[in-house]
Amino acid sequence: MQNENWETHSIAIDGLAGTGKSTIAKKISEMTGLSYLDTGATYRAAGLLALRQALTTTHVDKLIDALRKSTLEFNDGRIFLDQIDISVEIREPEIAEAASLFATIPELREYLVGWQRDFGSKTNGIVMEGRDIASVVMPNAGLKIHLFAHDEVRSQRRNEVSADELLRRDQRDITRSVNPLTIVDDAVQIDTSDRTISEITDEIYGLYLIRLS
Ligand code: DC
Repeated sequence: MQNENWETHSIAIDGLAGTGKSTIAKKISEMTGLSYLDTGATYRAAGLLALRQALTTTHVDKLIDALRKSTLEFNDGRIFLDQIDISVEIREPEIAEAASLFATIPELREYLVGWQRDFGSKTNGIVMEGRDIASVVMPNAGLKIHLFAHDEVRSQRRNEVSADELLRRDQRDITRSVNPLTIVDDAVQIDTSDRTISEITDEIYGLYLIRLS
């Protein structure tokens, strides 16, 4: 089923690692009944496949071919590659690094953005989170949220990586030439540093009620 209005009934949530995106997006999906997609998990799945097949960024065509031949599924907050749940494995530091590197390659982004839009178009509205959701994946989203948090707060939340590594990956997300993390003009900007998750989700849910329901 393709729903042509899926995008205008959807919420885009962008922000750097450790801003609370996943926790907030999942909760908003529960509160609104909209579907949910963590696009970072799709970049991590691509990174995992690249590592398994020992592919470097110079072999992006082989990686895209491997992705085409695999089945990638996202369901209820979990990601599956060829029917195997890889949700835990993709959190490993070497996968995060591979995902961040491959996320700089235009052809891979084009493939994954296509996958993400296809996933969204099969829903009646979705909460999608990532770095380029409002700017590239769902430019017509009914509500666009951009989350911030201070660097110290973010690195505490992401305690699996060192503060240096987190900032290095942030730099890559911000400065890459294709689809960098962008704050679109119509995004609502929320600083999550000193607020509780329920304060933030109540604010976003309020905006959803005004704009989308
Ligand atoms: O959000 P995350 O840490 O799971 O994302 C993993 C990597 O993928 C990270 O380096 C940023 C990148 N990414 C991206 O470039 N675009 C997105 N929409 C989501 C994630």
